Amino acid sequence: MNKISIIGAGMTGSTTAHWLAERELADIVLMDVVEGMPQGKSLDLLEAMPIIGKDVEIVGTNDYAATKDSDIVIITAGVARKPGMSRDDLLTINAGIVGTAATETLKYSPDAIFVVLTNPLDTMAYLTLKKTGLPRERVVGQAGILDSARMRAFVAMETGVSVENIDCYVLGGHGDEMVPLTRHSNIAGIPLKEYLPADKLEAIVNRTRKGGGEIVNLLKTGSAFYAPSAACAQMAEAILKNKNLIVPCAAHMEGEYGLNDMFFGVPVMLGNNGVERIIEYKLDDEEKAMFDKSAAAVKETHEALKKLVTL
Ligand code: APR
Repeated sequence: MNKISIIGAGMTGSTTAHWLAERELADIVLMDVVEGMPQGKSLDLLEAMPIIGKDVEIVGTNDYAATKDSDIVIITAGVARKPGMSRDDLLTINAGIVGTAATETLKYSPDAIFVVLTNPLDTMAYLTLKKTGLPRERVVGQAGILDSARMRAFVAMETGVSVENIDCYVLGGHGDEMVPLTRHSNIAGIPLKEYLPADKLEAIVNRTRKGGGEIVNLLKTGSAFYAPSAACAQMAEAILKNKNLIVPCAAHMEGEYGLNDMFFGVPVMLGNNGVERIIEYKLDDEEKAMFDKSAAAVKETHEALKKLVTL
C-alpha cells in the first residue's frame, strides 16, 4: 500500500483523508499541532472503513516521525481565510507553518512528492520548493483543478448538461486575477462561446474568479474544503497510478509561458514523478494580457515572501 501524509488535519486536511480513504488509494497519516484532534478524526474515519468496505490504515499524530516513508505529502496546514481577508493576508502566518511542515516532512520522506494546498497557494508552493530544495517535478500546487471545477459546476448549473460533458481550463495564479480560458473550455466539444450567450459566459467567468470568496462569505467561519480536498485527492491518484493526467496545477515555471522562477497555474501532466510535463497553450493577445496580469500579482506575493523569509 502507498502512504500519503496530510499535514494539517483541519477541514481540507481531514476531508482530503476522507476522499482518499474512499478511493482505497493509500494508507493515510493525518498530522496536526492540535493534540488529540488528528487522532480523533483518524479513528473516526478508520471506524467508517468497515461500513464502506475499504482496507486502509489511518493514523492521527502530532509527530512528524509518523509520516516516515510517505509517497506523497499533502500540505494543508495553515490558517484559513476569513471574510474580508485576502489570500495574500495569509502570507505571513502561513509561510512559517508551511516552511516547517515542508522541511520536517522531507526529513522523514526524502522521496516524497509534495502537493501544496495552503494559501496563498502559488507562493506557498514556491516556499516549499525553495525550503526543500527538491527538483521542480516533485512540488505541485493545487488550485487550477478547483478553479476549473467551480467553472464547470457553474456551466452545468446554467446549461443543465452533465458535469462530465463540461471541460473548463482556469489557469494563472490562484487569486482574483486567475485566467478562465473560455476559448479552451467546451461542452462535449462545443466551445463555450458558441454554446452560451456572451453575458451568461461573462457572469460564469466572474463568479469563477470570486468562487473562493463566495464560499467564505457564506460560511463566515472558514473557507471552502470539499472541492479543494477533492482536487488534492485527484492529484494524489494521478500521481500514484501514474495516470499522466493533464490538469491545471501550480508548477514552477522555468521559461514556460515566458515566466521564470515562480509558481503559476498551467496545464501539467501528473504521473509517478509528479509533474511529468508542462503543457504550453498557444495564447491569443487577450489571453496573454490576462496571463501577464495574473503573473504580476503572483510575482508580487513571491517578492513579499522573499522579504519575510530567507529562502
Ligand atoms: N503544523 C501542523 N498543522 C498546523 C500547523 C502546524 N504548524 N499550524 C496550523 N495547523 C493546522 C491547524 O491546527 C488546523 O487544524 O492546520 C489546520 C488548518 O485547518 P483549518 O483551519 O480547518 O483550515 P482549512 O480550511 O483546512 O484550510 C487550510 O488550505 O485552502 C487553504 O486557504 C486555506 O490556507 C488554508 C488551508
